[in-house]
Amino acid sequence: MSSHKESWGSRVGLVLAMAGNAVGLGNFLRFPAQAVQNGGGAFIIPYLVSFLLMGIPLLWIEWAIGRNGGKYGHHSTPGMMDVIGNSSWWKYVGVFGIFTNLTVAAYYCYLESWTLAYVWHSVTGTFAGMDANQVAAYFNDYVGIQEGSLISVSTQAMFFYMVTVLLNLWILSRGLSKGVEIASKIGMPLLIVFGIFLAIRSLTLHAGENGAINDAAVGMNFFWTPQFDSLSNPKVWLAAAGQIFFTLSVGMGSIHCYAAYVKENEDIALNGASAGWMNEFVEVVLGGSIVVPIAVAYLGIDWIQANAGLSMGFKTMPTLFQNWGPFLAAVAGLAWFGLLFFAGITSSLAMGQPVMAFLQDEYKMTRNRSALVFGVVTIILSLWCVVFYGAGAFGEFDDWSGTFALVLFALLETVAFVWIFGIDKAWEEINRGADIKVPIIFKYVMKYVTPVFLIVVFIGSTFAPVGGDWVGAFGSLFSGNGWPFDAGSIIGKVMHVGIEDTRWFVDGAATKTFIIDLTRILLMLTFIGIALMIRHAWKKRTATV
Ligand code: PHE
Repeated sequence: MSSHKESWGSRVGLVLAMAGNAVGLGNFLRFPAQAVQNGGGAFIIPYLVSFLLMGIPLLWIEWAIGRNGGKYGHHSTPGMMDVIGNSSWWKYVGVFGIFTNLTVAAYYCYLESWTLAYVWHSVTGTFAGMDANQVAAYFNDYVGIQEGSLISVSTQAMFFYMVTVLLNLWILSRGLSKGVEIASKIGMPLLIVFGIFLAIRSLTLHAGENGAINDAAVGMNFFWTPQFDSLSNPKVWLAAAGQIFFTLSVGMGSIHCYAAYVKENEDIALNGASAGWMNEFVEVVLGGSIVVPIAVAYLGIDWIQANAGLSMGFKTMPTLFQNWGPFLAAVAGLAWFGLLFFAGITSSLAMGQPVMAFLQDEYKMTRNRSALVFGVVTIILSLWCVVFYGAGAFGEFDDWSGTFALVLFALLETVAFVWIFGIDKAWEEINRGADIKVPIIFKYVMKYVTPVFLIVVFIGSTFAPVGGDWVGAFGSLFSGNGWPFDAGSIIGKVMHVGIEDTRWFVDGAATKTFIIDLTRILLMLTFIGIALMIRHAWKKRTATV
């Protein structure tokens, strides 16, 4: 079987690329928002436990599945699952590894393009002299949200989006060592320097200086004081596990792909752990020291609890930087959005590579051609997110692809690897060529704890009851009142829980429900399309053998 030939230029390059894959917008925007929404200090323990029992084992599992697949000439998950599974159906589980990267890239590149635009606007002083409301309104204008319309249009957003996608495609088309690796070697160090600069500025804020009302310590204490009663709150656990997934890029098929270019006897144990820990350092230390302490210093804890969300980075931060005078505000804006941009692009490259690798391996496309196909499909899917941003399409992509699909794929691949391929072979695969001794306890964690953890997370997100109150939900079930699904649970979403009027058209005009349902259909068709491509590729292969 022929497959495309590429490899990493150096070990440093590999680890930086993998760290760049993991370190992304999730570390700086999603992590603080999730932590605040789940009670600050209440979030941290479930988060760290999820990292140790689920994140780290999954990293090793995925690096090992990837390197093993590479040995057989497979650099994307359908082929990888095919070689470790015991039935020809396993290759279809690999659909996830293409689907998730493609559909997450579709909304992620859009988000990434905002950061590029905001670098530009920070440097050119667009935000100078604007008050908080004006900066927030600027964001809505930027993405083209129009009151009373389902459609969001903005030429500016489209322009920066196209620049971002073309830049990604150009880097991808240069190949792994000349493209991705160089981008990571430039992006990662710069991002860390920018992050350290902002963290120092943030942690030296004092009440009464430059308009701050609180010391930085107030935000840090809120973030870091552990609250043990949260340990019994399933909602916090689900959010923490979800964040671990997203931030480590596990359950996506992206790590597998990068690892497939590692040679058979080269270390994955130490490399995998290093990239994972580097991500945690950047997330917990840098990601945790910027948005929250700065926002709490100027706006207080109540404000941040009421307003935490992804868009805080765009709607709030530029105003707060203004407190530091025009020069420092421009520098801080450049550092903040520059950091986000580098974090974003090294992640979106990692979403493109698996899709391209699939086309190159299984459809014998050239690298340039596969980049082009990835680009065209991503742009089509992105346009949907861009145009229907205000109608909720973006959020649907994030929920189904960026949250739910990860858990499902992680569960299936773990079962395939430790139970079907077998834990002994799996363990040997992880340890071959290892430069560290992986503690033996992880063998048992991988075999029992991680799968159970994943099953619990899967059931939890599928059936989550209103407000995360499981006890109350069982009470309701046993008293004959049925299970009260939360609007955010998978079944709740499918059943449109919490939406009063589920009609697609009202007085001849389409509703948000219509757009949301169409978005789900679009995602489903994408999934089916990839499955059909896999079937076609395998048919062709057996015909030629
Ligand atoms: N881990 C990245 C982040 O934290 C997101 C990502 C998803 C990267 C999928 C690669 C693949 O933002």
